[in-house]
Amino acid sequence: MTSQLIDRFGRTIEYLRLSVTDRCDLRCTYCLPEGFRGFEEPDHWLTFDEIEKLLGVFAKLGLKRLRITGGEPLLRRGLPNLITRLSKLKGINDISLSTNATQLDKHAQTLHHAGIKRINVSLDTLKPERFAKIAQRDSFHRVMSGLMEAKKEGFSPIKINMVAMNHVNDDEIDDMVIFCMENGFILRLIETMPMGETGRNADYLDLQPVRARLRKRFNLEDRILSGGGPARYMQSRDGQFTVGFITPISQHFCATCNRVRLSVDGTLYMCLGQNEKMEFRQALRNGLSEEHIETMIRNAVELKPERHEFRESPQKIIRIMAKTGG
Ligand code: GTP
Ligand code: 5AD
Ligand code: SF4
Repeated sequence: MTSQLIDRFGRTIEYLRLSVTDRCDLRCTYCLPEGFRGFEEPDHWLTFDEIEKLLGVFAKLGLKRLRITGGEPLLRRGLPNLITRLSKLKGINDISLSTNATQLDKHAQTLHHAGIKRINVSLDTLKPERFAKIAQRDSFHRVMSGLMEAKKEGFSPIKINMVAMNHVNDDEIDDMVIFCMENGFILRLIETMPMGETGRNADYLDLQPVRARLRKRFNLEDRILSGGGPARYMQSRDGQFTVGFITPISQHFCATCNRVRLSVDGTLYMCLGQNEKMEFRQALRNGLSEEHIETMIRNAVELKPERHEFRESPQKIIRIMAKTGG
């Protein structure tokens, strides 16, 4: 029997996105509703021991890549300790972090030493006032300082995630390209997904025309890049600048999906855009054996749906992104 996790559609699951908190210090209009009260009780948060046990079983089943997400993951106290523990799990050879960078200046060095080599930072605008509008918090300068500290610390690569929105920040896409060129960052443009009311109300922008325009203006070529995620990349001819497109709506990538998501309360979500899930918290708290956990993981993988239905059924997913873990 193979020890790998292969789903009903022949996809090998080797990438786990681990949400260490569903809380965030920003309130981006497309993500967390202002005044949101539905956060998980601290009692329900998986402890570091529980996470380590569950991921230990995953690692034996072929998990290779781990991404720490949230909410905002740096809000989880003691995160570097967790990372140090997880980086010792055999087989997991890529641990990365997705952050909004508001706290990154304080934590960059410890995170790097703990085993994070590459990071992805959310940044939708280079204008402080616009940032305050989108994120509903006046944190632009903190984010910039976090980003520059990460650059100094030597994380590589650093990717900038820009959720591109019609009439909100689409006029800044070229400025963001130039900013990333100047700083050696990889830019990724993301289409908004209808996750929860906030995601559905966001100003969707089809990135296909943007891709064609940038290709011409900056003389870019298609490239295959090894990352764990779904972005499709283009690069400058000298290889110095890279831009990726995450286009769940205009061109979905579910046929090559390799990932599952574990939320802070121990729910394993089998797809960002579907409701199939398996709850692990109680099993972990009841002290179930590794064999039992392995069976649960295999059963969960059997549930993994073929693809999202963001276009056909945009109302389907009431979870906001912060709950599922990006
Ligand atoms: P790399 O390993 O660096 O390629 O990371 P990544 O792109 O997988 O991770 P990141 O957290 O930076 O993800 C950026 C965005 O891509 C997420 O916030 C989602 O918006 C989107 N994304 C990532 N994985 C999936 C997925 O499985 N399905 C969908 N629909 N979107 C995803
Ligand atoms: N659609 C697309 N991306 C989203 N993110 C949060 N909510 C949405 C949404 N509805 C993005 C953040 C961040 C990443 C982790 O998820 O901007 O870049
Ligand atoms: Fe995989 Fe679902 Fe994302 Fe499609 S939407 S790539 S199936 S997690």
